[in-house]
Amino acid sequence: MDREKTAGDVDLAGDVDLTESQDWPESSLEITELENGWKKSALDNAALQASERALAQEQIMASTMNLDAPFVGASAIMHKVFELIDKVADTDSTVLILGESGTGKELVARALHQKSTRRTKAFVPVNCGAIPSELLESELFGHIKGAYTGANASRVGRFTLAHQGTLFLDEIGDMPTSLQVKILRALQEKQFEPVGSTKTMKSDCRVVAATNIDLEAQVAKGNFREDLYYRLNVIPIHLPPLRDRREDIPLLINHFIKKFNDKKNFRIEGLSREAQDVLIRYSWPGNVRELENICQRLCILKGEGLIGIDDVPQKLHQFRSDNSSMGLGGLMKDGFPDEGLPLEETVVQFENELILKALEKTRWNKNKAAQLLQMNRTTLVEKIKKRGLQPE
Ligand SMILES: Nc1ncnc2c1ncn2[C@@H]1O[C@H](COP(=O)(O)OP(=O)(O)OP(=O)(O)O)[C@@H](O)[C@H]1O
Ligand SMILES: [Mg+2]
Repeated sequence: MDREKTAGDVDLAGDVDLTESQDWPESSLEITELENGWKKSALDNAALQASERALAQEQIMASTMNLDAPFVGASAIMHKVFELIDKVADTDSTVLILGESGTGKELVARALHQKSTRRTKAFVPVNCGAIPSELLESELFGHIKGAYTGANASRVGRFTLAHQGTLFLDEIGDMPTSLQVKILRALQEKQFEPVGSTKTMKSDCRVVAATNIDLEAQVAKGNFREDLYYRLNVIPIHLPPLRDRREDIPLLINHFIKKFNDKKNFRIEGLSREAQDVLIRYSWPGNVRELENICQRLCILKGEGLIGIDDVPQKLHQFRSDNSSMGLGGLMKDGFPDEGLPLEETVVQFENELILKALEKTRWNKNKAAQLLQMNRTTLVEKIKKRGLQPE
């Protein structure tokens, strides 16, 4: 890897000797032994086969690659998220990160680790949805040699690898029900047994979980254990979809363009106002990930100069503003009009659009809309009445 080591990097080979292929220890692995700095003695009976070791190491190294990736956002809603991260990072409370796909849940999990005193230990992600359910238990808790066909050597699990660090259970909603009870015990008692073993293991890891599905609905349907849900949901962090924080879009665009310029030596100067307006208006079902991908595509195809509306994918052109709509970034999209414009009328029109957007967002709940607009409810009601604003 051609980058500087960061505080969160894990040097598996250096800290823990997992090279010897031996059975699990006869006596249970005591947490106090582990606490003695991951000494070889604590784990020298634990084993990984060479290929498995390489895989685990590669995955964990990959997972630490962007631990220092900047988190961009200036919207009020993201400020609250940043504040919450700062407040809870250095506690051991379980955090449940909720949000649509691509909203930055993994970035939050990494930030929580990075801002905690656990940062010098491992950040260990597990994608519960991507690992076949029959392998997930072994992946999490490890297994002993001969635990099942093909288990030719013992292997430590992710709970052990994350000892004193952070275990990130991604896509927790996809956790098979059969495993949920074991996870609950591991969270509550910090104890578990590797597959095929009766020996109890301990791990002092901080657990952060994430999901893009409605866990409460899954609980109601009986697909997710209620007790596990409450155990995970000690501190929920909700990541809003990008369409609810459009003011962050220009910042994110600049951030990604700078990133790709630096990484690939592009010389992109930015986006024209019209191109940027289209990106601000688009609904971004894939959230920040989709925006990042589009920025990457635009940078690759353009290479240098200013990205114009013609460079933006055709499917986004329907989000071009017309002249009748002031829009969020559409005002004076072609510069200040030669013929001038009536200030008061334009401001009222723009204000109406903002009020309508806030009302749409809150399903015409005037209290909430007034809060979003940081204005008095009575003033808002007056404006709605006086200007005849109505739902579409
Ligand atoms: N606020 C942000 N600032 C900078 N980059 C961001 C931000 N939010 C997300 N990203 C980037 O967007 C991409 C998607 O983020 P991430 O993987 O954290 O999303 P996710 O919520 O875990 O998605 P999924 O549910 O699909 O796994 C990543 O490349 C991440 O670095
Ligand atoms: Mg993710």
